[in-house]
Amino acid sequence: MPCRIEPRPEAPRPQAPLPDSLTWLEDSLRRLETDGLVRPHRVRRGRQGRLVELNGRELLNFGANDYLGYAGDVRLTRSCSKGSCAEGFGSGASPLVSGHSLAHETLEAAIASLVQTEAALVFPSGFAANTATIPTLVGEGDLIVSDERNHASIIDGCRLSRARLLVYPHRDLTSLVAQLEAAAPARRLLIVTDSLFSMDGTVAPLADLCEIAERFGAMLMVDEAHATGVFGARGSGLVEASGCEADVPIRIGTLSKALGSAGGFVAGPASLIHWLRHAARAWVFSTAHPPGVAAAATTAITLLQEEPFRRRELLEKASHFRHQLAASRPTTHATPVGRTASGDASQIVPVVVGTPEKAVALSEALAAAGFFVPAIRPPSVPRDGSLVRVSLSWHHTEEDLTRLATAITSHLS
Ligand SMILES: Cc1ncc(COP(=O)(O)O)c(C=O)c1O
Repeated sequence: MPCRIEPRPEAPRPQAPLPDSLTWLEDSLRRLETDGLVRPHRVRRGRQGRLVELNGRELLNFGANDYLGYAGDVRLTRSCSKGSCAEGFGSGASPLVSGHSLAHETLEAAIASLVQTEAALVFPSGFAANTATIPTLVGEGDLIVSDERNHASIIDGCRLSRARLLVYPHRDLTSLVAQLEAAAPARRLLIVTDSLFSMDGTVAPLADLCEIAERFGAMLMVDEAHATGVFGARGSGLVEASGCEADVPIRIGTLSKALGSAGGFVAGPASLIHWLRHAARAWVFSTAHPPGVAAAATTAITLLQEEPFRRRELLEKASHFRHQLAASRPTTHATPVGRTASGDASQIVPVVVGTPEKAVALSEALAAAGFFVPAIRPPSVPRDGSLVRVSLSWHHTEEDLTRLATAITSHLS
């Protein structure tokens, strides 16, 4: 029997006038409205899976990063309960002090085994893993080169590091090499990329990046947030699927997307992890995430090994869906940028429509037809590249995909 949380009835609170020091907020919010950038506030009720109830409406769920369908899986809930009973719910301190429990130690061993690295380190989120790790690798006098579509947490990590930053156009290796050749000498060099780009569903040219990193003596850091659990024979991600494991020394991943849990990780050589335990500020100065969450994530990694059919079937569905959409959106969905070197199509399928207003209109039309497909607008994507982002999940049926493809096509034609 699924649990339901009943809302506490509350009297509506009257809105007080803003203090003078905060009136600028009204101008900023008005500007968002003018630019079509106001974000909806959604409240979910119940577990999400194939379906999701948002603001009281049940919709077919194409908006979560729950690619393998583990977020609502009761086996994770049970592990979380068991872990919490054994070690308490709160961690009580940073991992450096007393927050690192046996559940975290077990999880880090499971991650290192999945990714096949010497060691791994868990952070409360993938965002924290990136913002904490980059400044431990480079600083003033160093150089970072970063794909223009890298995730916000990579961008913020680069900014925090105070290293010089060069940004190359998305997947454009000619430009990357030209920038490296023209760059003034630096003490250390870091190349950083998402492996599967979260808004575009595009795949980084990893084998070429490895070769460039080797040629220029650069550290290569690859963020597998949306690929962890989905690609590769073991399910560790696109680095594994591309056969590049020996050439990518710094691997980032999340437990929060395909693994249906929460937290982020860095995996790599033991010396890197040892260094991070001293230098990564979000690990040293922030409370460890709850041990029950670590226990649930460890269960998800076990399920990844026991249920490889989920990632295989997800990628088959992605390929099928892209083919269905290709009839109406040939340039967006049939191009190789959304495919791996071995031809797998990624499970993130953007439908680029242009302005933020057009993206919202498509998202709203799809909601009216029973689908939750969020609109993605600046700053997540360029202004003229606003889109609706279709996230496929193992839970979706063939009929779900056909119905969604038909609804998108008929709205756009
Ligand atoms: C590439 C990338 N890295 C990191 C993150 C942050 O991960 P988390 O949600 O676990 O904080 C995301 C989130 O979407 C992402 O897309």
